[in-house]
Amino acid sequence: MYHPKIELFISQDEFDVYKMASEFAEKEIHPLASSIDKNEKIPKEVFNKLKEVGFMGVTTPEQYGGSGLNNVSLFLIQVAINRACAATGVTMSVHNSLVQGPINKFGSQFQKDKYLKILATGDEIGAYCLSEPTSGSDAGSLKTAAEKKNGVYILNGSKNFITNGNYADIFIIFARTIPDQSLGPKGISAFIVEKSYKGLSVGKNEKKLGIKGSSTTQIFLDSCEVPSENLLGVENEGFKIAMNTLDGGRIGIAAQAIGIALACLDESVKYSLQRTQFGKPIADHQAIKWKVADMATEIEAAFLMGIRAAKLKDMGVAHTKEASMAKLFASSIVNKHCTEAVQIHGGAGYLKDFSVERYFRDAKITEIYEGTSEVQHLVIARSILNIK
Ligand code: CAA
Repeated sequence: MYHPKIELFISQDEFDVYKMASEFAEKEIHPLASSIDKNEKIPKEVFNKLKEVGFMGVTTPEQYGGSGLNNVSLFLIQVAINRACAATGVTMSVHNSLVQGPINKFGSQFQKDKYLKILATGDEIGAYCLSEPTSGSDAGSLKTAAEKKNGVYILNGSKNFITNGNYADIFIIFARTIPDQSLGPKGISAFIVEKSYKGLSVGKNEKKLGIKGSSTTQIFLDSCEVPSENLLGVENEGFKIAMNTLDGGRIGIAAQAIGIALACLDESVKYSLQRTQFGKPIADHQAIKWKVADMATEIEAAFLMGIRAAKLKDMGVAHTKEASMAKLFASSIVNKHCTEAVQIHGGAGYLKDFSVERYFRDAKITEIYEGTSEVQHLVIARSILNIK
């Protein structure tokens, strides 16, 4: 397995976490990845294994049952898990970054006590519900309504492309508390909603190109009553929570892309050393050597960008641009690497018998979810040009 030389840029503790996560993922998750893809389901045993090693609550403090690690460690763990299985990787990423992340940062004491404890131990799974049928990249145009009546919020609307939809028990839902649609991102609030609340229902699992083991569904809210103590953060300031949370989530998707790229490199190295053409291993042909060299170089660059973004988050420094850059770059190179990995495998790479076929399918989503590459360009450009 190829390992970028990162040990001098992170602490010994962080490196130990990465080593442990890599060994765990290779031994416990990697052997199951193909069947997770085929069955389009992550078995309970995988969730149990992730629970045992504390990966279901990586940055949540120990007092709430989490592992109390930093964001660099979370990034490294996510690289390791995604290298083994991208469907498991995104399931874990959403649960950690997009659900526990905002509760840790914006939650009340009551919410932390009630929800973090069950999420961080992995006893319950979380989902983050921002996108809707008519609002994807333009997240601020969402229509789901939250009307306050007799001390409770009544939620009506629907959410689209919700990762963990079918696995989740706890949903972070963004809804409009000021009905005036022309306000855009203003007038949106965040809520913690339990699956058991009357009026919440989960749609069918979407059939996808890749990351098939992850669950993607619609969520329907039909006069769903949410207690007022489940308002997350300040009323009407929910869009900032959504965006701040995605800053962390995007580091997770960069980690996912890097994990898949490393897996592509692993398989390409193995195959090119074994496969002989024109009297020598194909690795001995310049055409293949250059591909492998480019893949490793770009992975190392993406890795350092991801560590930098995670480190800034740990330091409490603004990292919106750096998280977007890491995601933009990593998701772009992984899609190139998957194409190259299939090419190196030739006809074999087109067969389901070889993992690169799955990596090719899994990689595409990293350019789409948690903000498309076009949205990342927009975020980066805005911060450089200081204009909207
Ligand atoms: N952190 C905190 N606050 C932020 C912020 C950030 N990163 N980014 C923006 N804000 C604040 C702004 O400062 C602004 O505040 P004020 O009103 O006080 O000025 C407010 O939020 C509105 O911001 P913008 O004016 O920039 O909003 P916009 O409408 O122009 O949109 C956008 C910005 C970047 C395009 C945004 O809509 C966006 O990121 N879209 C993509 C959505 C997305 O990533 N969806 C992914 C869905 S989740 C998912 O994919 C999970 C999964 O399944 C794996």
